[in-house]
Amino acid sequence: MNPGKFITLEGVDGAGKSTHLGFVADWLRRQGREVVVTREPGGTPLGETLRELLLHREMDADTELLLMFAARQEHLAGLILPALARGAWVVSDRFTDASYAYQCGGRGIPADRIATLEAWVQRGFVPDLTLLFDVPPDVAETRRAAARTADRFEREASGFFSRVRNAYLDRARAEPGRIRVLDARLSIADLQAGIGELLQELE
Ligand code: TYD
Repeated sequence: MNPGKFITLEGVDGAGKSTHLGFVADWLRRQGREVVVTREPGGTPLGETLRELLLHREMDADTELLLMFAARQEHLAGLILPALARGAWVVSDRFTDASYAYQCGGRGIPADRIATLEAWVQRGFVPDLTLLFDVPPDVAETRRAAARTADRFEREASGFFSRVRNAYLDRARAEPGRIRVLDARLSIADLQAGIGELLQELE
């Protein structure tokens, strides 16, 4: 049995990535794949409890980073790695690129701290493909304002989201093969056509 592949979706809050998660999963299922859809922080019972704390409790920035990686350890050990080993494809709404974007770009934690935790928890494991949904900060802000009640991250000022976006784009420039940038201002149909082409390349 070939191991499955790991696909992650990223973008600032309001980029619209969650809309495309189901499309990615359905596309892969049509190819006959077993697909596991999950999210970070979260994806396991303990991870979902940590998510509640992360999204709603005030905390120190390093505590936030450590809890993100505690949830990620649990997610890898309890869900992602076993699923990939049995041949399933795993699609995750966010993963470690979000820690570089939000905790480093947004909060200003030095990147080497994140790299240390990444090496500890992932031991070289990285996604096979990351779809980065990119939108200008004002568009994302309008979309956030139209959405449901804001969590702790979504209440941040617009400068925070500009830094998050730039950190994501820097990562995409550094790893252009893995991280593919999509213009999230396009229509859903155009975006999904582009996503389909990228998934085809992975098959
Ligand atoms: P999000 O994925 O936007 O979920 P929803 O669509 O339900 O709002 O929410 C998760 C939040 O967690 C998001 O604001 C980004 C943040 N986050 C980090 O700051 N660092 C991380 O490593 C991860 C995985 C998420």
